Amino acid sequence: MNENNGKLIQWYPGHMAKTKKEIATIMSMIDVVIEVIDARVPYSSRIPGLNKLTRDKNNIIVFNKYDLCDKEETGKWIDKYQKEGYICVTCDAKNSNDYKKIINEVKNLMTNINKKRQAKGLLPKKAKCMVIGVPNVGKSTIINKIIGKSIAGVGNKPGITKNLSTIKINEFMDLVDTPGILWPKFEDQNVALNLASMTIIKEEILNIDSVAIHLLRMLSKYYPNILKNEFGIDHYNDDEIEELFTIISKKKNIPVNGEVDYDKVSLNIINCVKQEKIKGITFDRF
Ligand code: G4P
Repeated sequence: MNENNGKLIQWYPGHMAKTKKEIATIMSMIDVVIEVIDARVPYSSRIPGLNKLTRDKNNIIVFNKYDLCDKEETGKWIDKYQKEGYICVTCDAKNSNDYKKIINEVKNLMTNINKKRQAKGLLPKKAKCMVIGVPNVGKSTIINKIIGKSIAGVGNKPGITKNLSTIKINEFMDLVDTPGILWPKFEDQNVALNLASMTIIKEEILNIDSVAIHLLRMLSKYYPNILKNEFGIDHYNDDEIEELFTIISKKKNIPVNGEVDYDKVSLNIINCVKQEKIKGITFDRF
């Protein structure tokens, strides 16, 4: 069990267990599972236990927000997942037409499947694809692009993709949309902090200071140049939190009323990632 300032890190939105049951039920009709993850946290943003439900399916992992990640580090995860049998696609759903790479992979998969069907004298079939992923990784953005019009909600609210529906995409592909799956609980505090750092879970679920400190710690460990340029400090050290927050407060021109406003500094740090001022980071390592 993990603790965060005395509070258990646990998040139980009501629809979560229901969603998993729903997915298990409809999995029998699915040909291709398209799991969307955040390329900055390629381990933390995966759905725990999903592989139990999707073992016998064709699985595509979409490394979305690829524009924001450290391509070298994320590349190691791509290699790893490819070796495990996943088809991996890198995607900047917001600013590019990378979604077409997903459609191409589905097309390739179906060509193979239909060749085998044909050999058995069966008619070709369309791919029923399911887009799945934790909140805020860009599922709606991808679905909207694939469909070519805006029907799935887009916004910075976990779980915005709500209704299960099947959408006809083209002659070889149908899309089954699913509600966002959220974590039933966090086994690992580091995973929770990584998710909060990328606004995949609300920072309020943890303590904002913990999330900000996690960001500083990770930048200090892996991206000291970003730490220096963005916050004016050379490295993070637990023993110097007050001094470091004072330096950041000055660098960011956060008004000081007698003393440093720690909450405002923490929010500023978190917002630097949220507002994409900080890019080129990947926090998961193996
Ligand atoms: P979800 O369905 O998985 O919950 O995620 P959604 O598509 O709502 O996307 C969450 C946020 O991530 C949105 O920003 C969206 O624009 C952004 N996003 C999605 N894909 C990418 C990507 O590949 N790169 C980058 N940089 N951003 C991406 P938002 O600020 O919450 O909303 P909005 O300002 O776009 O309306």
